[in-house]
Amino acid sequence: MTIRAQSVVLEGVSKHFDAVTAVDDVSLEVGESEFFSLLGPSGCGKTTSLRMIAGFERPDAGRILIGDTDVTEAPPHRRPVNTVFQSYALFPHLDVEQNVGFGLRFAGVPKEEGRRRVGEVLELVRLGDYGRRRPHQLSGGQQQRVALARALVLSPSVLLLDEPLGALDAKLRRGLQVELKSLQREVGITFVYVTHDQEEALTMSDRLAVMHGGRVRQLGTPREVYEEPASAFVADFLGVSNLMVGTGRGDGWVAVDGVALEASQGDATARGEVRLTIRPERVEIEPPGEAGSNRLGGIVTELVYLGSTTQVFVRAPTGAVLQALVANTGQAFQYDRGSSVLVHLPPDALRVLTADEDGTS
Ligand SMILES: Nc1ncnc2c1ncn2[C@@H]1O[C@H](COP(=O)(O)OP(=O)(O)O)[C@@H](O)[C@H]1O
Ligand SMILES: [Mg+2]
Repeated sequence: MTIRAQSVVLEGVSKHFDAVTAVDDVSLEVGESEFFSLLGPSGCGKTTSLRMIAGFERPDAGRILIGDTDVTEAPPHRRPVNTVFQSYALFPHLDVEQNVGFGLRFAGVPKEEGRRRVGEVLELVRLGDYGRRRPHQLSGGQQQRVALARALVLSPSVLLLDEPLGALDAKLRRGLQVELKSLQREVGITFVYVTHDQEEALTMSDRLAVMHGGRVRQLGTPREVYEEPASAFVADFLGVSNLMVGTGRGDGWVAVDGVALEASQGDATARGEVRLTIRPERVEIEPPGEAGSNRLGGIVTELVYLGSTTQVFVRAPTGAVLQALVANTGQAFQYDRGSSVLVHLPPDALRVLTADEDGTS
């Protein structure tokens, strides 16, 4: 198949529905052949953003470019994009080949060429032997692949996917996530992928934008947004471990459970309510009573042996649970479930997060 990937650029794009601001001044750039996700809770503006890229909605402000072309005013069929929806609505009375080839008729593709393209794209999604089946004779995952083939057969430069795995059960989802990702690499076109599932976005994307309230709260690689969340909202939404509530003093010290901790990462001089986070591999477990600052006392509640490391869960007197990932070097101090310990939280590993600038945490 001859497919040319193209970039997608949103420049200050906004969209209102009456009093609702669905998308609020969003700017982002999706690279050619990139797997880019829009991640965020329900109602944050993901679908509206995607529909504006597809041309189903027109922005109130801003510009949209695909490749070098400004498509802001272009109707959907004049854009080199295609969309896969969650409700992929295959025609029940048509077989797989007919479902996949349906759009080609309207695109004016000659019959012979159409047949060849349907065959190619069915091979691509590994449904080469299923062309004569009807949708009800396929599993949920196979139906999803038919929907994907139907979108790919028109050779779009950009594929837009709106929670395409949302209707499937967890196990099937995980399998299809891997498949979709490798398919995207193989086909090489740009994917803009919408999901509210943080694990899905983190595992599949080259980069992602975390959205909330119509705005992009953070944009980066999965590693960047997970390891260096820019705000309490992002950390919380991504399920970052070791998220503690504290009170910033404004001088790089944060009180957590009555203990002052020094922190040098993030918004270290924030004042008032903040969140503190630390990666489990930076948390150190020490014998109780050891001197030194930046330590919280607690009880080991769980030990999970992972081979080269052990995951240690420590409960503080307040009930907050901290997770440590301890290397099994054979030299560390020995402790068990129920042991009293100190958790050492080095200042250069402690990140202070505040609410977003508009007050949404
Ligand atoms: N056609 C519409 N008319 C009115 N409000 C809408 C319409 N489409 C979306 N919205 C509102 O815009 C906001 C963003 O919606 P949407 O983009 O669908 O979010 P998401 O896909 O992230 O769940 C929501 O508050 C939603 O209710
Ligand atoms: Mg949606």
